[in-house]
Amino acid sequence: MSVKKGQDVELEVTQIAFGGRGLARLEGLAVFVDGAIAGDRVLARIVKKKKSYAEARLVSLISPSPFRVDPPCPYSGICGGCTWQQMSYEKQLYYKQQHVQEAFGHIALMPDVNVKPTVGTERVFGYRNKMEFSCAERRWLMPDELGRDDVDTGMALGLHVPGTFHKVLDIQACLLQPDLGNRILCDVRDFIKASALPVYGLKSHEGFWRFLVLRHSSAFDEWMVNIVTASEARDQVQPLADLLVQRYPNVISVINSISGRKAGVAVGEYELLLEGRSTILERIGDFEFELSASSFFQTNTTGARLLYDTVRRFARLGGDETVLDLYCGTGTIAIYLAAEAREVIGLEVVESAVADARRNCRRNGIDNCRFVAGDVRQTLPALGVQPDVMIIDPPRAGMHADVLQEVMTLRPRRMVYVSCNPATLARDMLQLKEAYRVLEVQPVDMFPHTFHIEAVAALERVS
Ligand SMILES: C[S@@+](CC[C@H](N)C(=O)[O-])C[C@H]1O[C@@H](n2cnc3c(N)ncnc32)[C@H](O)[C@@H]1O
Repeated sequence: MSVKKGQDVELEVTQIAFGGRGLARLEGLAVFVDGAIAGDRVLARIVKKKKSYAEARLVSLISPSPFRVDPPCPYSGICGGCTWQQMSYEKQLYYKQQHVQEAFGHIALMPDVNVKPTVGTERVFGYRNKMEFSCAERRWLMPDELGRDDVDTGMALGLHVPGTFHKVLDIQACLLQPDLGNRILCDVRDFIKASALPVYGLKSHEGFWRFLVLRHSSAFDEWMVNIVTASEARDQVQPLADLLVQRYPNVISVINSISGRKAGVAVGEYELLLEGRSTILERIGDFEFELSASSFFQTNTTGARLLYDTVRRFARLGGDETVLDLYCGTGTIAIYLAAEAREVIGLEVVESAVADARRNCRRNGIDNCRFVAGDVRQTLPALGVQPDVMIIDPPRAGMHADVLQEVMTLRPRRMVYVSCNPATLARDMLQLKEAYRVLEVQPVDMFPHTFHIEAVAALERVS
């Protein structure tokens, strides 16, 4: 049987593929099914057909998987915010572990690596401390709204349909953030709708209102509201800031970031402080961190503690070591480990993150950390330090080949590799395994209801 694009087929979904989609076989052909999970029997429509695989969209469930649960969110299945809500949390943790194990097997060619069961978090909803909502001129409609005359098709403030830049769902409430965030979201939408200025067009690149970024500190219950606009018009935005601080005493910072760039990223070229402080305060373990609008910070504070505790356990510091923290962000891991090391040196490319790291050290009374700003490709070879232990927490793309080479030249006794992408973790491991043994890999779930997984690997030098 040769399947064709547009054809409806019955499929038995047996696995979840890396990337989160259901995987079925049709006469040997791998078919990736959006919205399906392992154990489902489905009717699916082929949307793409290649020689070695096909992609399909769920049309209807013939018989549901025993691991299906009723997703509490009405946007589930359509919104790109989380795509696994329909699967029991236990199974989510299982597949995350499997994906890390498979990456080690298929990419690093290390099938026997000891990947532990995923550590889950207690809060599977309301866990995100940062949310970015996009504005669009027109709403992307929910299936039950299609073709109806009574539906407002105007502006949206919400989250994207997966893999799209211009399809924005008008979200009334996102369950991944604490509830006050949803009230702020609705107030901001009402204000924008009533405003004289237009919403920024994602295709036309004209208009004013672009993004709403909310940050929440779980330790102190403080909120930062960052309104991203395409140009500066303070008189138009200030009344919104005034309204929010009057209505919500926990909103202690309102910022207006200005971004004239076409790229759809919610970061401003500069910022205006409209109300309150320019930072909010957060705590992980015994340490406090000041977060500005542009600071990188792990988006799940409780999960970050689990992650950093794992890093600490794997680093096995005795108080005497020189530790290098590559890709250190705002210095959170360095600060977390400082008391157990002689010195921690953090390398980070974003200058403002380095400034935050230094400030966070002072705030926590830490004086044995230092930070170097710049691309780690240049700063690592120029550093002239022989580390005992290295912490490596790169972005999704993993380490640059030059950095990997330099790490192999420095050959610290131990390394702890923290990764948000099992594929690049395994790719880098393929090189590192020449000189390092992987003692243990611990997946930590920072992102319930999404397929994303953070994994920490403990490495020990063998030669
Ligand atoms: C996954 S984050 C880790 C941050 C930190 N370890 C934490 O837990 O908050 C990766 C960091 O690497 C930084 N980065 C990306 N490319 C870099 C490069 N070429 N050189 C130095 N830092 C880089 C990013 O700015 C970001 O702060």
